[in-house]
Amino acid sequence: MRQAFRASLLHCLADPGEASAPSAVEYFEDGVLVVENGAVLEAGEAEALIPELGDTRVTEYPGKLIVPGFIDCHVHFPQLDIIASYGEQLLDWLSRYAFPAEARFSDLGYAQEIAGVFLDELLKNGTTTALVFGTVHAHSADAILEAAESRGMRLIAGKVLMDINCPEELQDTPESAYTDSKALIERWHGKGRLGYAITPRFAITSSEEQLAAAGRLASEYPDVWVHTHLAENKAEVEEIASQYPHSRSYLDVYDQFGLLRERSVFAHCLHMNDEDRQCMAKKGGAAAFCPTSNLFLGSGLFDLRSMLAANIPVGLGTDVGGGTSLSLLRTASEAYKVLHLQGQALPAMRALYLTTLGAAKALCLDDKIGNFTTGKEADFIVLDPAGSSLSERRTKLASSIDESFFAMTMLGDDRNVAATYVAGKLAQSSLAHSSLAQSGLAESK
Ligand code: GUN
Ligand code: ZN
Repeated sequence: MRQAFRASLLHCLADPGEASAPSAVEYFEDGVLVVENGAVLEAGEAEALIPELGDTRVTEYPGKLIVPGFIDCHVHFPQLDIIASYGEQLLDWLSRYAFPAEARFSDLGYAQEIAGVFLDELLKNGTTTALVFGTVHAHSADAILEAAESRGMRLIAGKVLMDINCPEELQDTPESAYTDSKALIERWHGKGRLGYAITPRFAITSSEEQLAAAGRLASEYPDVWVHTHLAENKAEVEEIASQYPHSRSYLDVYDQFGLLRERSVFAHCLHMNDEDRQCMAKKGGAAAFCPTSNLFLGSGLFDLRSMLAANIPVGLGTDVGGGTSLSLLRTASEAYKVLHLQGQALPAMRALYLTTLGAAKALCLDDKIGNFTTGKEADFIVLDPAGSSLSERRTKLASSIDESFFAMTMLGDDRNVAATYVAGKLAQSSLAHSSLAQSGLAESK
């Protein structure tokens, strides 16, 4: 099954950096993406590719921009309905909002309902892959992974491990954390496009026995992800120092229990020093930069330059419900401001990188997704520069793709996502699809 999609086309081949190296990015103003059996066959200039397409059906998106599907490196599906809850910093926010919301997921039917709503929201926002926290209930991981499977999405998720310092109804044990996670890994990891993440909430809510059990699993299943929070909030870091007085740092706690390795993804990483960064880089850990959450919860400013200088892979995360939007366009906009406050730059093409290829690298998925090189899975989105009237006015004035994409990241949200494709199939669209020009070669010219 071969199809082609014609629009402007933009993707990253490497990290464009702060100075936006042009060779790291490929842009075709009139481009074609050719997809076969759900994978990218070719991306290039329409002029060169259209004559070779024979009777391949061409779907045209005039005036639109096709980019790879966005990748959200850290998000909590059970916190969808507590997004935008007023007033607290992390530890109080967890007690007041997150834990009560997560307790409702003891009900499987409710977990399944929210999982479906959540993934449809991701698709509307152009997010085709995410690394997702569940709740302590094992069936929360079943619910989100089943919902991803039915939508054909590449998704990584896990049941949360937490056995101390949280409401009793939300506690598991070191033993049940181990056996439940193991059963979920056996059921889901590597099934189709799905992956499993061993998910200790953070070191505050796991006993040493539980962290040891998680570390045992992490060594038994080296290709499974580890997903947790690290050094987000100052009070949290102080609590860790008193809970683990013999550890060198917060990161060191995870390291001591075998939870820092390749495929370990740490959300936030705000309050770290150079020694931590070097250690994380050496062991292969990656960071999720979650700017809307870091601002909303008053947590701090992510130091992207130092993380990248240490060679730590970084991708953007929304961290809903601490984060305030599922849109990676809006998240990129806040990332720009967080970096600006620290004298750092986030050019448009690097924002694209951190939400596509860079995020894929952070999740060790860059052999499968993140750009349009031949053989990658055809997850892509159709961005509409005219998604809102203001975005339309501003992008019309842009004299380069750089300027236009920057304006879209500053002003954009789900209104700018016209269609989302998962493995070459239309998964979500705000367009009346019958009105799209779908044609063979003759009509497409
Ligand atoms: N640290 C531990 N749990 C959480 C959570 O649910 N959200 C955020 N932002 N940080 C956490
Ligand atoms: Zn989080």
